[in-house]
Amino acid sequence: MESMIRDIKLAPSGHDKIEWVKNFMPVMAAVDEKFSKTKPFAGKKMVITLHLEAKTAYMAEIFKHAGAEVAITGSNPLSTQDDIAAALVEDGLHVFAWHGCSEEEYFTFIDKALDIQPDIIIDDGGDLVHMLHTKRRELLPHILGGSEETTTGVHRLRGLAKEGKLEFPMIAANDAYMKYLFDNRYGTGQSTWDGIMRTTNLVIAGKNVVISGYGWCGKGGAMRARGLGANVIITEVDPIKAIEAVFDGFRVMPMDEAAKIGDIFLTLTGDKDVIRKRHFQVMKNGAMMANSGHFDCEINIPELEQCSVSRRTVRNNIEEFRQPDGRKLYLLAEGRLVNLAAGDGHPAEIMDLSFGVQFFSALHLLQHGRELKPDVYLMPEEINTKIAEIKLQSLGVAIDELTAEQRAYLNLD
Ligand SMILES: NC(=O)c1ccc[n+]([C@@H]2O[C@H](COP(=O)([O-])OP(=O)(O)OC[C@H]3O[C@@H](n4cnc5c(N)ncnc54)[C@H](O)[C@@H]3O)[C@@H](O)[C@H]2O)c1
Repeated sequence: MESMIRDIKLAPSGHDKIEWVKNFMPVMAAVDEKFSKTKPFAGKKMVITLHLEAKTAYMAEIFKHAGAEVAITGSNPLSTQDDIAAALVEDGLHVFAWHGCSEEEYFTFIDKALDIQPDIIIDDGGDLVHMLHTKRRELLPHILGGSEETTTGVHRLRGLAKEGKLEFPMIAANDAYMKYLFDNRYGTGQSTWDGIMRTTNLVIAGKNVVISGYGWCGKGGAMRARGLGANVIITEVDPIKAIEAVFDGFRVMPMDEAAKIGDIFLTLTGDKDVIRKRHFQVMKNGAMMANSGHFDCEINIPELEQCSVSRRTVRNNIEEFRQPDGRKLYLLAEGRLVNLAAGDGHPAEIMDLSFGVQFFSALHLLQHGRELKPDVYLMPEEINTKIAEIKLQSLGVAIDELTAEQRAYLNLD
């Protein structure tokens, strides 16, 4: 299979980046150590569609060491790093991705990667599964199963399963405790602000930061914004999440109100049109908008363009939309996940956990895929504990053990 990447000469810097993250991914190092010897995936083919940066590359290489033949594509046009893509090609993987690809190229890449005829897939957002269930249906009978990395993809999968149209078992890796509790909350919390700060080079302290969505990502985004000194305002549609935000000490109000006072807006809902025309019309001069939800539809960019008299890039990854009354509104990273499109994504220590979940989910499918009916499954619970134990050990953190009497008292045996 001929890879499609920007430039193989970029590989040295890709290798350096992968080397760096390896230092901080002890769970994956333990996985690599064990399964590169036993090679459970020997003879199996995989397609991985994920944000193509260093941590993902390390996981893809581990699957290869464990015996799999791997084809990989990006899961967002702006999150692919061309040097990483080049390094993976040098390491013998089939890579179909380049930074800034068009929508047509993005889907062509997924299509090409599927020519490998995968046994197992890993998806992020649902585009790979969608293509398998539409254009590439001939590949369906061959597939043991797959796993899905993010909340939005899990929503799409559950929709497919509900309609009885899902054709193979999928593990909602996102819904594993060791994923969402850390990746969505602490990972998105830190990396989103890293993306916003390196893009704007501005102070966060003292600003009114409006965070839409108080799910796992929203909680992380709000926690870290508060730590940076922002006045945090939450918008929500779920009364329970809203009351949780109130008791966490945040102001909660509808977007119609928040739009008038926000300095920085951050969407983390997985929903569409969270910020739209009626909100753009009342925003303050200089208001900035960013999204860290999976798709670029949370801020309605076509409406923003429509109600603006001009649109121009004013700084790398920042566009200015001038309003008829002279106000300037700013959009970061084209409304795509700001932590990946304008940053390096989650810290390596966090992806260590998420990719531990992905590896063991794939292993579970390898061993049990044929026994499972097409549906959406959770990763087996005991794997969460196994990943947590390896991580704790690597951090040098010891915990207590239950005594026999305590186990009996808690009715655990
Ligand atoms: N940037 C990243 O690296 C990253 C990482 C993980 C997840 N994600 C993506 O982030 C998004 C959120 O994920 P999550 O795990 O926090 O989901 P979640 O389901 O835990 O939370 C989403 C929250 O948004 C709220 N919401 C929905 N529509 C809304 C609206 N119109 N206004 C205000 N609130 C609204 C929901 O009530 C819910 O509380 C998803 O698209 C997910 O795929 C991104």
